[in-house]
Amino acid sequence: MKINSLNPVFLAILILIGVHGLKAETVHVSTPATSLVLDAEKGKPLKFMYYGSKVESSDLESILCGGSVYADAYQAYGIHPEHKTSLGVVHSDGNMTSRLVVRDVMSENNNGMVKTVVRTSDDLYPVDVDVCYLTYPGCDVIETWTEIINREKGDIRLTRFDSTTLPIRKGNVWLTHFAGDWASESQMIEEPLASGLKRIENTDGTRNGHYTRAEVMLSLDGRPDERHGATIGAALCYSGNYAIDIDTPVGDCHYYRAGINPDNSEYRLKKGEKFVTPPVALTFSNDGKGGVSRNFHRWGRDHMLLHGSTPRKILLNSWEGVYFDIEEPVMVSMMKGISDLGGELFVMDDGWFGGKYQRNDDTRALGDWVTDTRKLPNGLKALADSAKSVGVGFGLWIEPEMADLSSEIYEKHPDWIVKARDRKPVTGRGNAQVVLDFSNPAVREYAIGVVDKILSDNPGIEYIKWDSNCGIHLHGSQHLDNNRQSHLYIDWHKGFEEVMNRLRALHPEIVIQACGGGGGRVNWGVMKYFDEFWTSDNTDPLQRIYTQWGTSYFYPAMAMAAHISASPNHQTHRKTPIKFRADVAMSGRLGLELQPSEMSEEERNVCRQAIADYKSVRNTIQLGDLYRLKSPYDRQGVASLMYVSPDKNDAVFFWYRTESFAGQRLPVVKMDGLDRKRMYKVSELNRIDDSPLPFEGKCFSGDYLMNNGLVFPYPYIHNVDHDSLSDFSSRVLHLEAL
Ligand code: DGJ
Repeated sequence: MKINSLNPVFLAILILIGVHGLKAETVHVSTPATSLVLDAEKGKPLKFMYYGSKVESSDLESILCGGSVYADAYQAYGIHPEHKTSLGVVHSDGNMTSRLVVRDVMSENNNGMVKTVVRTSDDLYPVDVDVCYLTYPGCDVIETWTEIINREKGDIRLTRFDSTTLPIRKGNVWLTHFAGDWASESQMIEEPLASGLKRIENTDGTRNGHYTRAEVMLSLDGRPDERHGATIGAALCYSGNYAIDIDTPVGDCHYYRAGINPDNSEYRLKKGEKFVTPPVALTFSNDGKGGVSRNFHRWGRDHMLLHGSTPRKILLNSWEGVYFDIEEPVMVSMMKGISDLGGELFVMDDGWFGGKYQRNDDTRALGDWVTDTRKLPNGLKALADSAKSVGVGFGLWIEPEMADLSSEIYEKHPDWIVKARDRKPVTGRGNAQVVLDFSNPAVREYAIGVVDKILSDNPGIEYIKWDSNCGIHLHGSQHLDNNRQSHLYIDWHKGFEEVMNRLRALHPEIVIQACGGGGGRVNWGVMKYFDEFWTSDNTDPLQRIYTQWGTSYFYPAMAMAAHISASPNHQTHRKTPIKFRADVAMSGRLGLELQPSEMSEEERNVCRQAIADYKSVRNTIQLGDLYRLKSPYDRQGVASLMYVSPDKNDAVFFWYRTESFAGQRLPVVKMDGLDRKRMYKVSELNRIDDSPLPFEGKCFSGDYLMNNGLVFPYPYIHNVDHDSLSDFSSRVLHLEAL
């Protein structure tokens, strides 16, 4: 529908105003509390004018005179090659220049979801570029992306294809982003924007990887703050190779540009073909980083994450408990173990499959998805039945995108793996693993068939841990044409999405965890296929506080798998008390990652209590609003956060001591997000102390708690036997409104 001619509702948000003496058409994309304003005058380049808190229509006409930005919203390379642009097109005749001008503005309203499309096209060549915006009712996130259509007679080549460009006026703007490595994912970094180009990129090939995250916050009022300040959040929803540029050239603006990484990915479009870039989700809040996070969590749960309104189960995963030593009696005893602790699901990790090759380590059998009857003589069905008989669900690990060189699948189909022709495969994990070529439809069919068969043959399976432990090595596809080898990264990812889409159509109810060799697949682009992600292979509670903190900026607790594991920890070798381990895991989607039969009596008791307590507050943690109170990155010896139910009736407060020195006075943590006028009764969860805290069972107003907080008795350690004291202490408080 053409909004400027047919849609009276939309007419209200299109107004004619004077821009530099010209008549221009203003497009106002709005949400309840935010506005994005464009100048879409026909025949002219599309101009960005404003993104921030809601602009009332009475102000719209004047914002330009008031000093709003006036910059290219989405321009292509060539006319001003000295400036960075969002799109690079080599036309079929070799011309490298484009000038995109507005042709039309269209809008459609689908049950309150409003899609606005500004159609631009080159002023000489028949290439259309639709700049798209999507909003949801009652939600302060705007999704934006582009669709590039070739109407030329011959192929065009795309050399850059950003999803969006967001100009941001200069002036003490700070960037918050997340970087890391395997076992230390999502570490928060905050820095003021200085001149030059900051690039955050992923080149993993199959997953968004461990090293960067595709989400940033931009604090416009100086140093980032959890509660105050104009803050933009931007998440590129794409877990393939991406590039996010935060560019500070001379002039008035910083520029945020995000999209599929163009490096080594030049893409040819035939006549009539369309290239759709992945969405960037944008939000804005005047309530600092906390406000941005809450906007993202709500949007994520309501519109992206699969089954985003269904609380997640408490599970035991077998990996750190037994690694590859899968055997039926061991699995059955683990099921009994988690059932005895009050858990709800058991997941059998790597090591259960293999025929000619046995999966006893990470060097063979990947891709041969047949049950290893030497280890599991009665098959998967018997395991699912055993789980049922002890009252827990059953889940399974699988890695359908991959193969090992020592596997029957590779022997049968050596042409199915990603590799350059005429070169020997380059392996990843275990010096054995290779990536299957999802640009090849036959390989996609195989992967869909494998998963579908396992699930159809075993209706007792309710959960899948979908792992991916290898990026692309040796760039090349044995399937793609010679002149389309540079399509590999993009077509591989498209293929992955097709596999997930089709599997989801076949098995909509199965819970699937996205695991990427730890936290290598944490990206909103794939969360529509997944219920949650494995946050990190590092289960050490101290390090998890930092990783989970960083992850919480854009992802809700219900998606963030957090497991209690053994002490000493298998990754850091740190010894921590079971309460500390349980309290940290409880702030995400609680699970366990150990061998129950090796737990001490104390560990068993604390876990049983933690699971029971978690059940009583699960909805508040998983579906509530997050308030980060004291950052571990501030290195003040304490980290604290809380969740508040949307109706503010219920809250859960987490407090962790992150450093321990004699004589240390820790900062008092003020609470947030409560109803100031209501009274809250405080009780401690996961209590291990011999005597209760002084405020146990006492009532405080939301106002008092938010102004003052509660002070834990010095020296902040627990009232327990001397031998049980530790440098790691923690508290979890439950607040119930009267
Ligand atoms: C990597 C995952 O992150 C681990 O949790 C585990 O599933 C292993 N793969 C199994 O190979």
